[in-house]
Amino acid sequence: MQKFVIQGGRRLEGDIVVQGAKNSALPILAATLLCEGESILENCPALSDVYAACRILSSTGCQCRMQEHTVHVTADAPACPAIPVSLMQEMRSSIMFLGAMLGRLGSCTLGYPGGCELGPRPIDLHLKALRRMGVNIREENGILTCTAPQGLRGARIHLQFPSVGATENILLAAVLARGDTILTNAAREPEILDLARYLSCCGAKIDGAGSSTIRVQGVKKLRGCTYRIMPDRIVTATWLAAAAVTGGELRLLHTDAASLESILAVLEEMNCRCSRTAESICIAAGGHMRAVRYLKTMPYPGFPTDAQAILMAVLCTANGTSVLEETIFENRFRHVDALVRMGADIQVAGRIAVVHGVRHLHGAQVSATDLRGGAAMLTAGLGAEGETILTDISHIDRGYDSPEQILRTVGAEIERI
Ligand code: UD1
Repeated sequence: MQKFVIQGGRRLEGDIVVQGAKNSALPILAATLLCEGESILENCPALSDVYAACRILSSTGCQCRMQEHTVHVTADAPACPAIPVSLMQEMRSSIMFLGAMLGRLGSCTLGYPGGCELGPRPIDLHLKALRRMGVNIREENGILTCTAPQGLRGARIHLQFPSVGATENILLAAVLARGDTILTNAAREPEILDLARYLSCCGAKIDGAGSSTIRVQGVKKLRGCTYRIMPDRIVTATWLAAAAVTGGELRLLHTDAASLESILAVLEEMNCRCSRTAESICIAAGGHMRAVRYLKTMPYPGFPTDAQAILMAVLCTANGTSVLEETIFENRFRHVDALVRMGADIQVAGRIAVVHGVRHLHGAQVSATDLRGGAAMLTAGLGAEGETILTDISHIDRGYDSPEQILRTVGAEIERI
């Protein structure tokens, strides 16, 4: 098992080119299944979740190969409408293939998806919407058999909660359905807009993606295209946090500043200077960090749940007391124990965490609890005094492409062992 060994307290300085977004690459990889001919996806991050999505595509009969950061998918004759249980378990986003397979093949057999353990992660909203689109769903021993005997049909769908995954699955199912789909209370995350842009490039008719009402007019066929995956806003947030926690100065390139406003506002409140152009962000964290009075995770454009753990790692050594409320997932404070072992003063009650700033954290042996919890440990280790040994880093590899190499180029002392 691999681990990171970090000598903390090194000030980070320099430029980082931000990788492509995992949460955009995964649904777009699923979407390639809907398109005849070849799709070429540029700026795809090299991550274990991306490799798992490629294995799912191959298992259905598509040709899929990754070269550097470009994935080529030819989906001329996908034939197998089933996803092996082992591949479903590898990641949460495997569920995206349900909408895509139903759209292209009219049926899909699959197990429940795996992914981070952030509390229960039901897929009831996905299934309810698909039923409205004419899908019969049968469940036996944890295996779902989904069929659309008369083909998928467009429908009016209202989501009780703006679930990112359900919105994406409905889009994937709707683009080749018969008639129009109108989705209300849709999630507005930028990755949904990215998926819609890819599908539109392939010939889909979608209006309103990125807003809470999306209209899709079903078309008969889609044709693959060349598309560049958007930059990863949570990886951007992680490097911003790494600058903040080390009192450093970083310029992040090839990012999308507009999608990071809620995070930049918090960093500015904490006393970081942030300047942005459309595609770059400069952060300078000269003075002492200040606590934030109250930070609540919300669907986009609110503060993202995926950045909560990472910002908490910075708030541990800020002046004063910060209160964080997690509203999206039930079990998203699993990183707190490890931060406390590094000297943080944090109390958790239900969905609220109260962080009393301490002067500094100290290195310790800690393990990554999940993807973003692992990124929080990494951030804390960069700022801590002494050596941090971070184990279970396979969680981090699900979302970060070569993080230790990137961090070394800006002055961090970190080894993968
Ligand atoms: C996506 C992101 C994940 C992020 C999350 C919230 C990807 C690959 N993952 O996950 O990084 O943390 O959005 O921004 O894009 N829910 C239900 N029933 C459903 C679906 C969801 O109750 O059918 C609940 C979930 O349990 C959770 C909340 O809705 O409490 C949000 O989930 P959702 O927006 O669907 O997140 P994911 O798409 O799984």
